[in-house]
Amino acid sequence: MTAPKKLYVKTYGCQMNVYDSERMAEALGGQGYVETDRPDDADMILLNTCHIREKAAEKVYSELGRFREFKEAKPDLKIGVAGCVAQAEGEEIMRRQPLVDLVVGPQSYHRLPEMEAKTRLGEKALDTDFPEEDKFEKLKSRPKAQRGPTAFLTVQEGCDKFCAFCVVPYTRGAEVSRPADRILTEARDLVERGVREITLLGQNVNAYHGAGEGGDWSLARLIWALNDIDGLERIRFTTSHPNDMSDDLIEAHGECRKLMPYLHLPVQSGSDKILKRMNRSHTVESYLKLIERIRAARPDILMSSDFIVGFPEETEEDFQATLDLVEEVNFGYSFTFKYSTRPGTPAAERAQVEEAVKDDRLHRLQALITRQQRAAQDGMVGRTVGVLFEKPGRFEGQMVGKSDYLHAVHVQDPSLQVGQLAQVKIVDSGPNSLRGERVA
Ligand code: 5AD
Ligand code: SF4
Repeated sequence: MTAPKKLYVKTYGCQMNVYDSERMAEALGGQGYVETDRPDDADMILLNTCHIREKAAEKVYSELGRFREFKEAKPDLKIGVAGCVAQAEGEEIMRRQPLVDLVVGPQSYHRLPEMEAKTRLGEKALDTDFPEEDKFEKLKSRPKAQRGPTAFLTVQEGCDKFCAFCVVPYTRGAEVSRPADRILTEARDLVERGVREITLLGQNVNAYHGAGEGGDWSLARLIWALNDIDGLERIRFTTSHPNDMSDDLIEAHGECRKLMPYLHLPVQSGSDKILKRMNRSHTVESYLKLIERIRAARPDILMSSDFIVGFPEETEEDFQATLDLVEEVNFGYSFTFKYSTRPGTPAAERAQVEEAVKDDRLHRLQALITRQQRAAQDGMVGRTVGVLFEKPGRFEGQMVGKSDYLHAVHVQDPSLQVGQLAQVKIVDSGPNSLRGERVA
């Protein structure tokens, strides 16, 4: 038997990329690859790239340059670029960096095995098409290996919203939902392999409308069907757009036992003028009303958001409106970004806010958000919450898990197992995590 070939995958960006990298590694497993964490030891290096950050493409080129010495030492080494930079740059990558053997866009991962075979014949392989087929269906998994207790499951890809700052509609293409039965089959398979919590992924996940029994299913319907899977204990989903928060999904937050009380619902700005220029198609008022309805359905829900500061033409007054919105909603968690231009998106052409102003706003917003985050965390002390344990902690007999509200929780209890879901009383709140004691 020949020794297995080694695959080194480096993943940038979002959870969707983490999920895609796992599927690509599984697909290449069928070609005799096992994963390594050492690029210098690999027979194939795959960069799964993200285009959300500024100068993303430049960073990929400089990372690729660093692999030259590995290729010189091992001429048979294959180098591939996947993800959104691959989609956006296409052939340009091979032109600019001759070290690259393979470029594959996010919609073509099911073609990876044949593309890899092509590179073994000394040819270059490129595929950045947007085919109308379910790539995950074609990415056959390896024999049933045990998995950790949490998993991501992609249910939807692409976006039709065209927010003026965002590259996703261009790199991931139009919104496509996977059929419900395939998702349910994949979910059952994950549960058989030890998974107890599934996070449904999509760039615009709550716009999900996959084909199912009796017609198109909404995300809520899919969640209710997942709720019936024995052994699955928790369901989450991300990322949602305010305009796609349908009534049945809000209701599910109140009634579906396994759906966790946490919702990431990016608002981006608290100024109607900026929201309009961002092409967000919701207002501050409609967002606040929505939050009110969600909280009426599930009063203890923890809300989180994304914010962009320094969007073109954002004045101090606009920014103040964002601070006001944050004060009003009281988020349990949030991600803050300085606006940065993405070539090809409408906002890139507009008058830009000065860098120093952006920095100042970012710091002020972060300070407020950190305060709210701490308060939400401190507010957990004294409460008893469900915790799903994911790994041993740093100390002997300690386990780390996530609460229903997605806070990291440390518990000192040698009888706890990875994958166990226990009731924990929170006794202390630290900078980034909670400490608790098991009660059941
Ligand atoms: N500049 C800054 N932040 C951005 N995001 C997306 N595009 C940009 C950009 N051009 C942020 C948004 C989005 C999150 C995933 O990344 O807040 O919700
Ligand atoms: Fe990008 Fe999200 Fe807007 Fe779609 S909804 S364009 S993914 S920010």
